[in-house]
Amino acid sequence: MKKNKILLLFAHPSKHRSEVNAPMFDYAQTLEYVTAVDLYAQYPTYQINIDKEQQRLNSHDVVIFQFPFYWYSTPSILKEWQDLVLEYGYAYGHEGNALNGKLFICAISAGGKEEAYRTKGYNHFSVRELLQPLEQTADITGMLYLPPFALFSSRSALSDGSLAQHIQRWKLLLENLHHDKIDANSVSSLITINELLDLSSSGESQI
Ligand SMILES: Cc1cc2nc3c(=O)[nH]c(=O)nc-3n(C[C@H](O)[C@H](O)[C@H](O)COP(=O)(O)O)c2cc1C
Repeated sequence: MKKNKILLLFAHPSKHRSEVNAPMFDYAQTLEYVTAVDLYAQYPTYQINIDKEQQRLNSHDVVIFQFPFYWYSTPSILKEWQDLVLEYGYAYGHEGNALNGKLFICAISAGGKEEAYRTKGYNHFSVRELLQPLEQTADITGMLYLPPFALFSSRSALSDGSLAQHIQRWKLLLENLHHDKIDANSVSSLITINELLDLSSSGESQI
């Protein structure tokens, strides 16, 4: 069975104040099959090393963007990373096929409630819809897009206990990605990948 190596690109401008993303990142750092990169710590002046980032991509099978949802998008360093690293001739365009076949997923935390991310909710769109620029970026670069792994109501997640459950799901997600157990086609219609992990942890379904 294939064993995937995971590249986790983490973007949080104030990790020391993070309740959700910091423990998720710290856990991922303990896994030998995950290369966990704290982009703000590594590039405090945004001088992203393009060669280094491309080499890191080359040696991994799964790419995760982990971030708190900021203005319905990524914190700015992840946009800078995309703008610089996903070059023509490398990630797309003539002979730009370095990312073909890799799995791509966003792991996000959103302050808004899940009900707000619906057509009739105050955010009007689902997180899957709002992340469409990343979905299309994955597509044009030949990566297989997985629906986002999401925590809603993130600012109360520590106190109401939902963070603990989310971290259990996170562990399961990383393990399943490593063991190549997630089939992009079979999850393509989900809004988030959460429900698949909930089913699998209760033993009702195989991923
Ligand atoms: C600049 C900024 C923009 C934000 N934009 C959004 C947003 O668009 N949608 C949302 O649901 N939450 C938004 N939030 C709330 C964050 O997503 C929330 O604070 C974060 O998920 C908490 O994770 P942490 O404990 O790891 O910091 C925003 C927060 C900040 C500081």
